[in-house]
Amino acid sequence: MNWSENVIRLDEVDSTNEYAKRIADRSEDGTIIIAETQTQGKGRLNRYWYSPRGGIWMSIILKSIRESPYAQLLTLFTGVAVIQALKSLGLQVSLKWPNDIIANNKKLGGILTEWEPTSGSVIIGIGLNLNIDPQTFPPELQHTATSVLHELKSEIDKDGLVNTILKEFQTVYAKFENGQIEELLLAWKHNSNILGRDVVVETVGQQYQGRAIDVDQDGSLILKEKSGKEQKIVAGDVKFLE
Ligand code: BTN
Repeated sequence: MNWSENVIRLDEVDSTNEYAKRIADRSEDGTIIIAETQTQGKGRLNRYWYSPRGGIWMSIILKSIRESPYAQLLTLFTGVAVIQALKSLGLQVSLKWPNDIIANNKKLGGILTEWEPTSGSVIIGIGLNLNIDPQTFPPELQHTATSVLHELKSEIDKDGLVNTILKEFQTVYAKFENGQIEELLLAWKHNSNILGRDVVVETVGQQYQGRAIDVDQDGSLILKEKSGKEQKIVAGDVKFLE
């Protein structure tokens, strides 16, 4: 598959993930959708995702995956690809389970993987605050988010970075298709800032507290509670305790 062949460039769109879902059944495997800005960018749990001009807002349509249980792993592994690309800029970045790209303890970007059942596609959405001045962020993001521009104090060539991300993703995805899950999980763990730390995880209707000790074969977080009991958490929001 040549990842740069089927690229749809849009100026404005509601959400590249939603657009990808709409065109998935008539699109080729590996089609990429990139927009300059999104009017209804979506984060995890249907949260609003601020997507002004200057950021990277893109989605990848994968049609060769036959089952959805892989969605969580693909989220983690896409994070690995994005982080490799960012490291090549000299940026210090880490991954926070399940889908955050972190720099300086603030959110630089995120991954949103969705399953489109009609066409049987997985849609991987990547959002990255690139050439955006954090002073223009809405108030609720001021203390929690950052941008590459802010961290590196210089503008980055967007197309160049998109290409690097896609190249890294291609490498990661080839390994994924090849069943090299252990190797990819190891790469995720290596780049993660969560393992070994005391956290609170909020899931729908429940809260768990303990030490994050591992991420298992399906991408779930394993938490060790004070009592010694281990909890396997499929989805949730993580807060660090220290
Ligand atoms: C998160 O951290 O909650 C995930 C954010 C994912 C944002 C990206 S931007 C491109 C794609 N289109 C969307 O509407 N969302 C994803």
